[in-house]
Order: sequence, then C-alpha cells, then structure tokens
Amino acid sequence: MVVSSGTIDSLLKEKEQYPPSAAFRKAAVLRSDSFRVDAAKDPEAFWARMAKELAWMAPWSKVLEWDPPFAKWFVGGKLNMSANCLDRHLAGPRRNKAAIIWEGEPGERRVLTYHDLWREVNLFANVLKGLGVKRGDRVTIYMPMIPELPVALLACARIGAVHSVIFGGFSARAIRDRAEDAESRLIVTADGGYRRGAVLPLKKIVDEAIADLDVVRHVVVFKRAGVEVSMREGRDHWWHELMAKADADCEPEAMDATDPLFILYTSGTTGKPKGIQHSTGGYLVGVATTTKYVFDLKDEDLFWCTADIGWVTGHSYIVYGPLANGASVFMYEGAPDWPEPDRFWRMIEEYDITILYTAPTAIRAFMRWGDEYPRRHDLSSLRLLGTVGEPINPEAWRWYRKTIGGGRCPIVDTWWQTETGMILITPLPGVTTTKPGSATRPFPGIDAEVVDEKGLPVPMNKGGYLVIRKPWPSMLQTLYKDPERYKQVYWSQVPGKYFTGDGARMDEDQFFWLMGRIDDVINVAGHRIGTMEVESALVSYRKVAEAAVVGKPHPVKGQSLVAYVVLKKGEGRSDELKKELQKHVREAIGAIAVPDDVYITEKLPKTRSGKIMRRVIRSLVSGQEIGDTTTLEDPGAVDEVRKWLAEVEAHPE
Ligand code: PRX
Repeated sequence: MVVSSGTIDSLLKEKEQYPPSAAFRKAAVLRSDSFRVDAAKDPEAFWARMAKELAWMAPWSKVLEWDPPFAKWFVGGKLNMSANCLDRHLAGPRRNKAAIIWEGEPGERRVLTYHDLWREVNLFANVLKGLGVKRGDRVTIYMPMIPELPVALLACARIGAVHSVIFGGFSARAIRDRAEDAESRLIVTADGGYRRGAVLPLKKIVDEAIADLDVVRHVVVFKRAGVEVSMREGRDHWWHELMAKADADCEPEAMDATDPLFILYTSGTTGKPKGIQHSTGGYLVGVATTTKYVFDLKDEDLFWCTADIGWVTGHSYIVYGPLANGASVFMYEGAPDWPEPDRFWRMIEEYDITILYTAPTAIRAFMRWGDEYPRRHDLSSLRLLGTVGEPINPEAWRWYRKTIGGGRCPIVDTWWQTETGMILITPLPGVTTTKPGSATRPFPGIDAEVVDEKGLPVPMNKGGYLVIRKPWPSMLQTLYKDPERYKQVYWSQVPGKYFTGDGARMDEDQFFWLMGRIDDVINVAGHRIGTMEVESALVSYRKVAEAAVVGKPHPVKGQSLVAYVVLKKGEGRSDELKKELQKHVREAIGAIAVPDDVYITEKLPKTRSGKIMRRVIRSLVSGQEIGDTTTLEDPGAVDEVRKWLAEVEAHPE
C-alpha cells in the first residue's frame, strides 16, 4: 500500500450549517442525542438492545466475542434472515403491505406485498434445494434489477446458502473468476435486462463465463427480456418452469448468528478482488438499526435507494435493512436518463416516494442535465434525502437540498464501505445540524478516529487516516478463504484498529470530513476500482509490457481512470491501440473499469528500487500537492515525473 503523509491538510472549509426543521424534528424517530450518548457508554448493551427488536430462534449467550481481529457477534444466537425480513411481518398489519414496488425500464409496474414476496421466496428456496443447494453452499447471482433479484437473495438466506451477487456491469471473465473462487455450483441469472433501451444479454455472458468452469452444475434463468438464449440440457433451467413445480412452503433454516450470509467481491490494492464475507446476526442488527434511525423510517414511507443490488448499498439498503423494518421499497430497473433525464423525478411524483438515497455522481449528472427536468415534476412527497459512495462536494449538496429537496428535506451524507456492511458515519436527521460536505458524526455505538501513520490521533482539522477503534455488529468477518489477507489489509496498518483506507479530518465540532481513498483504490462514479486490477488487465494484453493506472478528478464521476502504458518491444503504436486496450479492459473486468484516457509512453517513472511512482503520478495528475516525499529515494524524481507527464500528455494517441 502506498502510504502518504499522515497530515493530509484538507482544503474544504465550509461554514454553513443546516439544523433539522422544527417540523421534521417533531415527527422524527430520534429527536435527541441521548441515544448516541447512551450507546457510547456501553456499545455492547446498545447493540444487544437493538438486536432484541429482531426475531431470534434461540437467544445469544454472549453479545461479542472479540479475538482481535476476529469478532463474533451474538454468539450462540440462532436466527434466519429471511424470517426476519418476511415471516415476522405476516402476523400483523404488514401482511398485505407493499414490500417491493417496482418499475421496469420499459415502464411495466409490479407490486409485491410482504405475503407475495414471502411466497416467491419460499418457492425459490425450494427450487434451490431441488437443485441440490445446501446450507453453506455458495450461489452466484448475476441479474438485472428486477424483483426476482431480492427473491433470489432471500431464498438463499432462507436455506442458509451464501450468496455472491455480481453486478451486471461485470464481464464474463470477472464472473468466471468470482464463481471459481467461491466454488459456486449454481448461478442465477436472466436472459437479459434493460439498460438505456437496449438489452444486456446476461445469460450469454454467463455462458461465456462458465464455458470451461466445471464447478458450476446449474444455471437458473429468469425470462425478463424475452431475448433468444441457448439453454444447455441438464445444466440450464428456466426459473418459471422450476417455480411451477416447487413446493410452496420452505421452513427457514435456523442459522447461527455467526454463519456467513453472503460474500461480495470488491476491489482492493492488488490485482485480485477480495471476497468480503458478512455474518447473519451481526449484519442484520447493523443494517436494521441504521435503516431505521438514519432514514427515520416509518411505516408509511416509500423508500428508494437507487443503487444496484450488485453493490453493498443495494444489499443493505434495498433488501435487508428496509425489509427487516417492514418498509415499502421502491425499485427501478434501468437508467436515470431513459427515455429522458426526468425519469427519476417522474417516478418520485407518480409513486409519492418519500425517501431518496442516491450517489454524488448521480447528483452531479442531474445538475449537468439541468434544473428543467426536476422542475417538470412535483417532488413534494420527498421528506428525506441521502447520499453515499464518495465525498459530496458542497455545491452538489446545496443543489440536492434546494432543487430536489425543496429546501425542506434533511440530507444524510452516509459514509461506509462494503466491509463495514452498514452506515458508520452519518447525520441523524432529526438531531444533527449538518454541514454541506461532511458526513458529520459516527452512528451511535461506533467509535471512529483520525490518526497519523503511527496510530496517534491527529490534531483538530488536520488530515489523517480514518480508523474504527471498536468492532461493530455488521463488520466483515474475514476475507473469503483468506484470513491472512484480512489481517494484513485491515488490521496491520494501525495495530488494534480497523484501517478504512480513507483519509479524513475532524473539525472543532468533532464532525468528520472524508477526503477519499489514500491507497490505490479509486472511486469512479461511486464504484470502487482497484488500479492494480486495471493494471493487471492491461498487462495481460499481448502488446503491453507495463502499465500504471491512476485516478484524476472528473466533473461528474468524481474521478476517472488514466492509464499510462509501455508497449512490448517491436509493438508499434497505432490509432486503434487505445480502443483495443479499452476493449480489453472491458472484457477483462467490465465497462466500469475502462480508463477514459490511455497514453502510450516509452517508460514509466520509477524509484531506484524499481517501483512505479504511482503516488507522485496520481498527485500530479490530480493537481494536488505532493505531500511527504521523504519515502521517495530521490526527491528530485518529482520534477522528473512532472517532465515525463508533460511529455506524455503533449503527445496523446
Ligand atoms: O472512500 C470511501 C467512499 O467509498 C468507499 C467504499 O466503497 P464501497 O466499498 O464500494 O462502498 C460504497 C458504498 C458504501 C469508502 O472507502 N465513500 C463511501 N461513502 C462515502 C465515501 N466517501 C465520502 N463520503 C461518503 N459518504
């Protein structure tokens, strides 16, 4: 990992403050900070209190067993995630309440009540069992944003199978690597899904992914788009055919709180994605609690988190958190600008959506598309707005508040990660006076700190590394099949503390200001991309000898990828080469990882020991100060890199 200076001075200094309105506060689930104060006194007692609101099949004997860096929450407790999200709502007035209200990109509408969803989940759980899936087996899911996606997740949870969802934007090779790593015997997919008017041929991509992967025995295909697919006899099955024959009842499996619920692969600082493994009990307690208090969730709300379920945000705040709370969730399949850039606003108006949770990159895109689109619609049903995925620039924050929230809705800027499972730093909307650009304070029960490279707290308003000092219920259990890497990545930088990989500063009110990643992971349009992963994809191309990939600021995506590539001897440059390289990355990882800029160069700047000076390149490309150069063997190298960059970028391909 590249560790730069421990005092990254922050540039953002915002003075504005926005307290919750009296009307919002009056009706809020939480109205005073005493909740946080109590939780801080005894976090374990706090989490135990939260856990008691959920349905347990057997009580836990110990709230937390902390054998650093491995935490076991609610030891001895037994429960089932799908029973918490479904069965327990069936006994009361939520039985026929909408669980999922869905709109497809072409415009179809579907509503599944809690009872409907429970029924589908029972049937599909029996389908999985019928295909030999057992407790503990891994199931890979590669689906569009249709109700069958949460059905598949909940069905896995019902029988104790561990799901691994792969975002629809990943390529065949990425699916292959992940399915192989997880040793999935079964993949759930669809013939296709709609995106900007076109059909993404998911089944075809799966066919390519598993052509030579023997471990996958079965593929279940939901017919969504009605496109032609090839079905291999004995391996491939139509969802609707299996569902028609399945039994309607499937008892939820009594899982240990510490049994894994899912794996979700995410980018790290090496070429190989990490399988983040989450537990059943702790994860449920974390997401159920944060959904209720961060989003001020009430029974009459219609909650829309615009993320894809292929990312952790969708796992925690479309599926598990809201359904555990018996909420009505809105779900949309397609693109925000299809058929026109007012699609989101039209749906908010038509469905009376009350809570909107989206990403800064989307907000910046909406700003660019123009105010005329939100102005076409009545957005007065909205009462709370949220953001996640990257730091939100104050300008976008203000625009969101005024143009979408009508100046009336609090904004919760929520900081968290795939690894944390739940929101960790966030305003409490009825309590916190927000400042544009700050995620404000840790959620009750969370102990966060900003430290230098020695692990010592940095002074107020000085930049440093964000660490979490105590375990929390929904923290990752480990990296799938790689506990050593888990220890090394998260617990070795600052011994005894969870290392987030983010830079931050804390201001005079103990508010946190997130400053982005300090490692080789960058955030493109709210999606986390490991630059090493893109580099390994590039060097796997036959013409490429070496590559360096860095992020640079981008007005909409937050950051974009820039690749510097050295060709093998004898390989000539050509106009087509940049496109070839972009295509290659698209095939190796997926469209989200394709660099916007590709420069061919004769050499890459290196330290004397031969390491590519990524940090210097990155800082120079971003126009940032270089910070501490003492780790460079030759500080004069900065000037060399500056010269090198000027030359390379003066001669684009
Ligand atoms: O850098 C932080 C940024 O997103 C990273 C986590 O990415 P991922 O695991 O893909 O999860 C994204 C959704 C939870 C973090 O390390 N990040 C996320 N939320 C914020 C943020 N940066 C600043 N402010 C946020 N609210």
